[in-house]
Amino acid sequence: MLCLGIESSCDETALAIVQDGTLRASLLATQAEIHALFGGVVPEIASREHYRFIGMLYDALFQKANLSPTDIDCYAVSRGPGLLGALLVGVGFAKGLALAANKPLIGINHLHAHLLAAGLEQELIFPALGVLVSGGHTHLYRIESVENFILLGRTLDDAAGEAFDKVAKMLHLPYPGGHLLDTLAQKGQSNKKLFPRPYTHNDTLDFSFSGLKTAVSTYIAQHSEIIPKSAEDALNSTVLCNMCASFNTAVVDTLCIKAKRALAQHTDIHTLILAGGVAANSLLRQNMQQLMQIREGRCIVPSPALCTDNAAMVAYTGWLYTKAGLYHNLDFEAVPRGRTVPTDYQNIG
Ligand code: KG4
Ligand code: ZN
Repeated sequence: MLCLGIESSCDETALAIVQDGTLRASLLATQAEIHALFGGVVPEIASREHYRFIGMLYDALFQKANLSPTDIDCYAVSRGPGLLGALLVGVGFAKGLALAANKPLIGINHLHAHLLAAGLEQELIFPALGVLVSGGHTHLYRIESVENFILLGRTLDDAAGEAFDKVAKMLHLPYPGGHLLDTLAQKGQSNKKLFPRPYTHNDTLDFSFSGLKTAVSTYIAQHSEIIPKSAEDALNSTVLCNMCASFNTAVVDTLCIKAKRALAQHTDIHTLILAGGVAANSLLRQNMQQLMQIREGRCIVPSPALCTDNAAMVAYTGWLYTKAGLYHNLDFEAVPRGRTVPTDYQNIG
């Protein structure tokens, strides 16, 4: 079965084809450079750019896959959460394709797709603890099966990726800042006492990164000489690399403390799935692996290209769900950030 997946929830326009659980072809057009000019994603520009690229990517994808559009058996599209105008471009495009081809279509929860993406590379085992860390979300889930996600905790303010991006902005570094801060952190020495592990002295599984952001902002205000003149200058500044290492460790420690707490509460879980853009972070990958090694469990982390937004995860989730008999009628809605994505699938039984 061939499933075409479409992703347009934020600033990446992506299309991919998954054949019987294996990635056949994938294409992605990033808008990062355009939004970097504004220091963050501008929703109206994102929608227009998706609209500009989606048709071209569709044609190019079939050439790359050496397939014809009539070969596709089912369609899947990220329906949210995300920027509504951006999502509508992908959802509208997918509905048009499914209607014209008279083939099944399913709207996918973008966050669940992130967590299932690793299934393209290794076997997923359930129940699992899902740790989703992206630019817009920091969620902990108990995952019972590919369709059953129970939310255990979430951020009350900034997402982990947002904290990286905001600290990068304070340092006048380009958007999105996570990858560069990670690189700088790897060159520095972490001082564990410099920044707090925010919102950990409690018994909840929720997160709050705003206190950490304030602590970094105060530090930068008191040490303004560490703001680099350029990204190159940043790579050569030991004090800056040390500060980035301290910030990076504070975020990673906080995520690990809450993951450990969730595992202590769910003793039947022996698998952790780490996903989302921040899962590309080298220290986070390493520390989560260690955490599961100590427990003699498994830590599943997708390769970095599958961590950030992509359509392979959407096509793969679409393939899994369609195989299970799930689909949507054409009236399903795109869901903006902040609203829960409903599990309103139809089931052919
Ligand atoms: O999942 P994603 O591609 O988009 C959303 O759905 O939000 O995540 C993007 C986020 C950005 O905040 C980016 O700065 C962060 O992931 N990110 C990283 C790294 N690579 C990307 N954060 C920390 N370390 C990284 N290596
Ligand atoms: Zn994402």
